[in-house]
Amino acid sequence: MSIVFNKREPQAHVDPIFLDRWSPRALSREPVPESMIESLFEAARWAPSCYNEQPWLFIYAATEEDLSLYRPLLVEGNRQWADNAPVLAFALARKNFARNNKPNDWAAFDTGAAWMSLALQARRLGLYAHAMAGILKDKVYEVLNIPRDEYEVICAIAIGRYGDPSQLPASLKSSEIPNKRKSLNEVAVQGKFSD
Ligand SMILES: Cc1cc2nc3c(=O)[nH]c(=O)nc-3n(C[C@H](O)[C@H](O)[C@H](O)COP(=O)(O)O)c2cc1C
Repeated sequence: MSIVFNKREPQAHVDPIFLDRWSPRALSREPVPESMIESLFEAARWAPSCYNEQPWLFIYAATEEDLSLYRPLLVEGNRQWADNAPVLAFALARKNFARNNKPNDWAAFDTGAAWMSLALQARRLGLYAHAMAGILKDKVYEVLNIPRDEYEVICAIAIGRYGDPSQLPASLKSSEIPNKRKSLNEVAVQGKFSD
């Protein structure tokens, strides 16, 4: 499961899967079996959510016909590499609670939890999941018939096995490496807020 070129250093004990998850752009075109795709969304299904509303909805493409519909919904910079992905998905968040139709202020948060579950399960299966904010949102709603008043389109996700980084455009090759993080004391503080 772990990758030899991943030099990420944890600052405290942590399960290796957290370091092993990263967002490569060199994806292989090799198709992902339906059973694996189901496993990814199954992982997402078990994410926690406010009132257990499960406000996420993933819509995905894994056939050439659907992929050709999805690819033009990404910005050009993402198409440069994500056009290779054998699976493309969009993560949507239901705007209102089903229980009372009031705005769900945690819908995006919960959808983020579901995405992370999917991304970690992807690593367990030898796959990678790479989220993308760079999408043509208006077109996504229009082309995929998503009801705007009901759902917020959060991001796209490219899914696949690792491919050949030498095939990436020169501008992307240098960043094709697992990146670093802020230090632990910058992301968690005890007691009162402090800079
Ligand atoms: C919501 C979200 C949007 C992102 N949008 C893009 C994007 O449009 N294009 C891209 O190449 N990477 C995108 N990324 C990937 C981030 O750049 C990446 O997650 C971040 O640099 C941390 O690196 P890592 O995922 O490899 O650990 C996005 C990630 C997230 C979570």
